[in-house]
Amino acid sequence: MNIDIIMEKITVQACANIALIKYWGKRDEDLFLPTKSSLSISLPNLQTTTSIQDNTANNCDDIIINNKSVSSSVYSKTISFLDKFRKLYNIKNYFKINTQNNFATAAGLASSSSGLAALSLALDKFCKLNLSKQELSILARQGSGSACRSIYDGFVLWHKGVSPDGSDSYAQQLFDQNYWPEFKIFTAVVSDKQKPISSRIAMQQTIKTSSYYNDWLIESEARIPKMIEAIKKRDFHTVGMLAQEDCLGMHKAMQLSKPSINYWLPETLEVINKIKDLQQSGVNCYFTIDAGPNVKVICLDRDLAWDVKNKSIVTILFK
Ligand code: PMV
Repeated sequence: MNIDIIMEKITVQACANIALIKYWGKRDEDLFLPTKSSLSISLPNLQTTTSIQDNTANNCDDIIINNKSVSSSVYSKTISFLDKFRKLYNIKNYFKINTQNNFATAAGLASSSSGLAALSLALDKFCKLNLSKQELSILARQGSGSACRSIYDGFVLWHKGVSPDGSDSYAQQLFDQNYWPEFKIFTAVVSDKQKPISSRIAMQQTIKTSSYYNDWLIESEARIPKMIEAIKKRDFHTVGMLAQEDCLGMHKAMQLSKPSINYWLPETLEVINKIKDLQQSGVNCYFTIDAGPNVKVICLDRDLAWDVKNKSIVTILFK
């Protein structure tokens, strides 16, 4: 199919999500099929805005992220997603893609979740495919696993699925963004540098070499029904504790890889210790950390200080 509305420019937005129960590891590298289910919350303040135009006349894709031509690794990841998309939907066109994040890229701030979700939404709209949310989730998953959850707002479950073709591995909204307005996540940014090892490589290494990975898989999968129950009851303490445990298990599995993988900086530990102190003094706040040094703090609106409330990203929060 050749898309002939070549003058049109489409702009869409998607927000990042943070997993409360993590995805870490693929059972199929090409289709991005996960080894386990995961559960996230979408963050309306962390947004990617993506515009797309036709670039077929130039016979190549043109990709700009945050006003810069991208590094070769991001470029090849995006091109291979676009090639997959063209093959899946029999599209012949090339595209000019312009993407802006309103937060730090590739520092464990979930930029790939919103980035690939926004690109999937933009391609669907530009090519007038009218995909359902489930189909969009399956498409986004094939660009970056966590992106399949960013098709929805609110609390979102990614079913791992069992089918080898990935048709049952997609995200589903559990509760929309108005369900629990008191529930807040903010990021303590300790570094906005690119991560030292990509999550794709780190996942492979963890699966292959970590003595703790299989235990984490079983424990983490078992946390999913508990987490859904706790969200249903708006039981904040249980939600926070489950999220914290799950993240610590994932990082322990990475640290027990050979060679060991460590995304944390000394400041990461400082923030964790500060949160533990706050917990001891009776404040209901918890942490979760992805493939990077930055700490996401989970708390209730009433416990957020005014200056934190008025920023979506807090720099060196506890200093
Ligand atoms: O989708 P990726 O390749 O960015 O991997 C995301 C992995 C974690 O952020 C660490 C966990 C998750 O479930 O989002």
